[in-house]
Amino acid sequence: MVLMGVSAGKRILLIIGGGIAAYKSLELIRRLRQKGHFVRAVMAEAAQRFITKLSAGSLTGETVYDDLFALTDEAAMGHIELSRDADLVVVAPATADMLAKMAHGLADDLASTLLLATDKKILAAPAMNVRMWLHPATARNAGILRRDGIAFIGPEDGAMACGEFGPGRMSEPEAILAAIEEMLASDTKIPLPAALSGQAANALAGRRVIVTSGPTHEPLDPVRYIGNRSSGKQGHAIAAAAAAAGAEVVLISGPVALADPKGVTAIHVNTALEMLREVEAALPADIFIGAAAVADWRPAEISTAKLKKDTGNGIPLPLAKNPDILATVGRRPKGRPALVAGFAAETEKLLENAQGKLAAKNCDLIVANEVGAESDVLGGDKNKVHILTGQGRESWPLMVKEEVARRLIAKLAGMLN
Ligand code: C5P
Repeated sequence: MVLMGVSAGKRILLIIGGGIAAYKSLELIRRLRQKGHFVRAVMAEAAQRFITKLSAGSLTGETVYDDLFALTDEAAMGHIELSRDADLVVVAPATADMLAKMAHGLADDLASTLLLATDKKILAAPAMNVRMWLHPATARNAGILRRDGIAFIGPEDGAMACGEFGPGRMSEPEAILAAIEEMLASDTKIPLPAALSGQAANALAGRRVIVTSGPTHEPLDPVRYIGNRSSGKQGHAIAAAAAAAGAEVVLISGPVALADPKGVTAIHVNTALEMLREVEAALPADIFIGAAAVADWRPAEISTAKLKKDTGNGIPLPLAKNPDILATVGRRPKGRPALVAGFAAETEKLLENAQGKLAAKNCDLIVANEVGAESDVLGGDKNKVHILTGQGRESWPLMVKEEVARRLIAKLAGMLN
């Protein structure tokens, strides 16, 4: 029978760094499991020189993750979810390299990305050569991390695998377990940054925001049009979130089955040309967010009479290119909003294409989302997005569109201020 204490049955994300002490982490997993905890392990690439994924996986009884770009893992559980789906994050062994990355916010592999993305407290159990631990650079990094609220256990004094003696040995699994239990007994969540908490209520006070939303309908004749399946849910949620953040909002929407959000000026259009005209009339603004699924093409001619079906096997359909509203706003030589944000909905090469759009449309931010056949993003209530800016990329977990909107507005407010 497993004896359960107050903190029994908690979820631990164990990040195993690349050091000889990695073998002790296997024992730590065993002890955590004995206490009834659920353990998910992530191994730094170098850790696999010391222990295998197979051994860690057999002990956790779970998939062991190691690759940031493993698509199957991204499909099953994105790395943000992985970082949040725990009560506590434990780094053992925490190598000098890992501490340096953590102190400086580097995220170039799965382990470091999880450590940057998590909203849970982190316990680090350093293990390294004594000179490395005593080096001013490592001492500096450990100091930064302590000030950031990272908890440490060890390192201990002792004889080291490299033959030297001094501080650098990873604490014993039993001691790490005790430190984990102590942390689990208190609140293990890092408080929300101000930008995401209630303090964002007035983040856009005094600012003007223009949002496009929904599809466009490009008429063929008086009764038919070319359109797409955009519901406008994401764009409308963004307009509502901007208004909730205190902005004066103009929402320019294509045909949708949604009510106008409260507190926004809503302008209804059908076509891309109308949408562009209304956007230009609504400028200037501090922020432009192009969330509409604007048709790239429109019938070159609109028949004034309903097209007849008895015209043989088919009819030619010459198309004219629609203006790119987002790019037009992004490239405005004068009166360009301080921030221009757009969406990239792609079925393949999502991030590559989204990155291209950031530059091609002169945007400050692109929200990239997958709209493949299996995803129900178009028309659905949830969205899983990546945020691309000139500063890099963030991947957000699957969230309801309202939450994506709130976070996007908080992000843009942060960039603006
Ligand atoms: O090039 P693509 O259509 O994938 O770009 C999508 C982004 O560009 C969205 O933000 C959309 O609102 C915007 N867009 C636009 N006008 C167009 C086509 C797309 O504003 N004609």
